[in-house]
Amino acid sequence: MPRLALLTSGGDAPGMNCAIAAVTKVAWGLGGTVVGVQDGYDGLVAGRWSELTRERIDGIWHWGGTILGTARSETFRTADGRARAAERLRQDGVDALVVVGGNGSLTGAHLLARETGFPVVGLPASIDHDIACTSWAIGVDTALNTIMEACDRIGDTAWSHRRCFVVEVMGRQCGYLAMASAIGTAADAVLFREQGKEEAELVAELEAMLVRAVRERGKKRILVLKAEGVQIPTARLCDQLQAAADAAELGIGVRYTVLGHVVRGGAPTFRDRLVAGRLAHAAVWAVLAGPDDVRAQAASTGLMAGWEPREPGGIDTPDRSVQLFALDDVLAQTDALLDGSHPTTKARVKLLGAVQGVLSL
Ligand code: F6P
Repeated sequence: MPRLALLTSGGDAPGMNCAIAAVTKVAWGLGGTVVGVQDGYDGLVAGRWSELTRERIDGIWHWGGTILGTARSETFRTADGRARAAERLRQDGVDALVVVGGNGSLTGAHLLARETGFPVVGLPASIDHDIACTSWAIGVDTALNTIMEACDRIGDTAWSHRRCFVVEVMGRQCGYLAMASAIGTAADAVLFREQGKEEAELVAELEAMLVRAVRERGKKRILVLKAEGVQIPTARLCDQLQAAADAAELGIGVRYTVLGHVVRGGAPTFRDRLVAGRLAHAAVWAVLAGPDDVRAQAASTGLMAGWEPREPGGIDTPDRSVQLFALDDVLAQTDALLDGSHPTTKARVKLLGAVQGVLSL
């Protein structure tokens, strides 16, 4: 009877529990069993896992967070720690490992497969949306909706008091959440690391936007989205904008809100549930029912199931929206996504460059 181990790793993301339930049920459907590893790679190294039973996964589909927990592991960062993890898995008769997490977690999964030959398949799950070879990552849609609802609420009070609000959102080095949210919330401006602009230039542009918004357009609510990857302390940016507003006698207040971990929680949206379930189906198929060459790839480099990828070279699965990519390819393309050389990043920056001028009208 085939036996899978499943873990969630890195920052939690809404939809991880959908992935846990889906992996388990698809494995059951293929005559297998699944053990859930407690606290990510930390639990993997320590051998902390137990059977995922119907009782444990029943009713978790709409829960935020992850019932398996997640934790960073210094031990797993070492080749010796990874070797010990593989040995424990083999001793327990586990045939393959499913890793649900972001690019740091997928890096660990790749090293485990490459160094030990243990089959691994990853599901992209991170609100940062900083993983290549997939057009969507589990958790992103829920995070965007959380940001949208928060900005709507902030907009109400900003309008009532004639204020400019700077809202900082997570995303680590990827500005996608801020970029997409700026469009979805009809913001007046957005700051993201990929712009590649220095502080002085960004502040000057915002100050000019502020003056026009009030003097020429009579706006009562001015919303600025800021990705956390922009290295300007939000409090300092706020002070500079307030000073500019006062100098121009605009008569408006400037405040800021850092959404932080609020964006990581909440019940997953339909889209995140759908993507989690279908990625899980294809991932389990790959390691339990896939052709020999696919299983061999899972054991040599590790694989990742990608949702409607734009990158070439994916391996087809029974789901026409899901393809499999070798993890070394995923990681190389993810580096490009973050250094700005990837076509997706260039397209995002180009779009926002065009949109910026419209946002403030
Ligand atoms: O990677 C997801 C993420 O939420 C990032 O956006 C954020 O910078 C980081 O995790 C925060 O990490 P922690 O939860 O360990 O503070």
